[in-house]
Amino acid sequence: MCGIVGYIGTKDAKEVLLDGLARLEYRGYDSAGVALMEKDGTLSIEKQVGKIANLRNAVFRRFHNQCFTIGIGHTRWATHGGVTKENAHPHLSASGRIALVHNGIIENYMTLKQYLLKKGYTFVSETDTEVLVHLIEDFYKKEGNRNLQSAVMEALKVVEGTYGIAVVCSDEPYKIVAARNGSPLVIGIGEGEMFVASDVNALLPYTRNVIYLEDKELVVLKSENYKAYDLDYQRIDKEIVRVEWDLSAIELGGFETYMEKEIFEQPEAISNALRGRVHVEEGMVKFGGLNMTDDELREVHRIVITACGTSWHAALIGKYLIERFGEIPVEVDYASEFRYRNPILKKNDLVLVISQSGETADTLEALREAKRKGVKVLGMTNVVGSTIARESDGGIYLHAGPEIGVASTKAFTNQVASLILFAIYLGRLKNMSLYEGQRLLKELSTIPEKIKAILEQKSLIMDMAKKYSESKNFLYLGRGFNYPVALEGALKLKEISYIHAEGYPAAEMKHGPIALIDEFMPVVFIAPKDALYEKVVSNIHEVKARHGKVIAILSEKDEHVLKYVDDVLYIPQTFEEFSPLLTVVPLQMLAYEIARLRGLDVDKPRNLAKSVTVE
Ligand code: F6R
Repeated sequence: MCGIVGYIGTKDAKEVLLDGLARLEYRGYDSAGVALMEKDGTLSIEKQVGKIANLRNAVFRRFHNQCFTIGIGHTRWATHGGVTKENAHPHLSASGRIALVHNGIIENYMTLKQYLLKKGYTFVSETDTEVLVHLIEDFYKKEGNRNLQSAVMEALKVVEGTYGIAVVCSDEPYKIVAARNGSPLVIGIGEGEMFVASDVNALLPYTRNVIYLEDKELVVLKSENYKAYDLDYQRIDKEIVRVEWDLSAIELGGFETYMEKEIFEQPEAISNALRGRVHVEEGMVKFGGLNMTDDELREVHRIVITACGTSWHAALIGKYLIERFGEIPVEVDYASEFRYRNPILKKNDLVLVISQSGETADTLEALREAKRKGVKVLGMTNVVGSTIARESDGGIYLHAGPEIGVASTKAFTNQVASLILFAIYLGRLKNMSLYEGQRLLKELSTIPEKIKAILEQKSLIMDMAKKYSESKNFLYLGRGFNYPVALEGALKLKEISYIHAEGYPAAEMKHGPIALIDEFMPVVFIAPKDALYEKVVSNIHEVKARHGKVIAILSEKDEHVLKYVDDVLYIPQTFEEFSPLLTVVPLQMLAYEIARLRGLDVDKPRNLAKSVTVE
């Protein structure tokens, strides 16, 4: 979840690094730093706690008339050691010659630290990373101070854990050595310049030609060329991939925040997920990359979906969808639980992993565990070329476009849309009729327009936010397809507004949470007209009888419960299976407006990172 950028070439490295770090800031942002090197090998480090703007000011104050041709930079999200300048990266070796930035966790750092302490190394930080830079220097010295590449390789052989690293050395001021194991790293190929980053977003203004490093691969970057190796010094040929994402797609385009932009992009994002896949006339869905034959899919007896956070909420909706349309039993597991639980997987099981980033450590390890047990794994990811996308046997891309806001919005709706498509696809392999396929796909194609109608209610939602922005607690209740939406609505509110919120299946309220209800407790009911509508209405009465404040998400024209609710937001009518695509949108907007009224930075909520690449 931290971010790495490295540059070698003829531009001023400090400009490139600070620009790249700003683009990665969403990944992790409690502190940041750069190591800048001049042509003669003079190495300078600058670090600051807080946002990249602090680092930018410090760097420009200190080096305003200096130009650097090589450098590495890092944004940190603390794992080992608190948020301090000392713990920020880059870390320097004892001699001050080698600087390193690192994403991931060195698991055997205590053992290595003891070894290095005995050899006389001293430590200035509490991080696991500092161990690695000393270790590299130790090997560098052993090899007569000549070869940074082999010193890094030898050090990585004794390291256990995960890393994406970039290393520079003042004795070799014409190269960057970078390597990965479990933490993403991408190389950007320019003309007379090379880049390395943990995320392709940092490179887009400079180049679209990239190489994705695989685990246990190392690359040596010089301004004119790059060479990739495995850790046994064998050269590897890497494929250069062209990135098609548009730079404007990751800029704000008139919105004040990425989160708001991404909420408003949902109609277009869903259209992109449906494009080319929905064939209404044939009542069929077509996918490009499942890599499973229809016969293989017909043989699947059980699907296990595993994911984290918002993606896990989408997975829960996926269970309802696949069981209903695809007639296959589905289990949903938190990836962090799945990977350590010794899950029972059988021959005809299929594992589906869902991850916006495609880099979430727990989800990736769940995928690997499933593969070790010999079952097929499909990946549903947004980031093309991400580790989960590459390691899955096949998959479905979300096509939501880059999601920068830490709180997931358009990726969630595209996950649900993709799960709907997958469920219909499975259904049509079984008993779903042509007519039913046509009916569902026709309705699905209207969803983007229906979301647009909800987005037009922004000013109503802003007024509602004003009423509730000082509340201390919220309860979100829904049933059936909208129970996971209740969980997602509560998560959105708590993560960006820091208000305590709980999501619950509405009928479970009477088994405990009802005790919380008083006149200060806003309760958000997700109650579109569906099979369970009447039952949810009974729950609304129960809350009202205890003087709770009711905010209801209702289907348009529903006036039946108006006198029992304090506030209402209407959504257009749709099939109950598709309703989460609509009901979640006002909840995202409500959370957003409340957080803005509280003066909070919604794109970078405290303590959170976009891509959780540590367990
Ligand atoms: C919440 C949120 C997180 C992510 C979770 C999984 O808004 O964004 O809960 O959903 O960290 O991330 P991915 O989907 O990238 O695996």
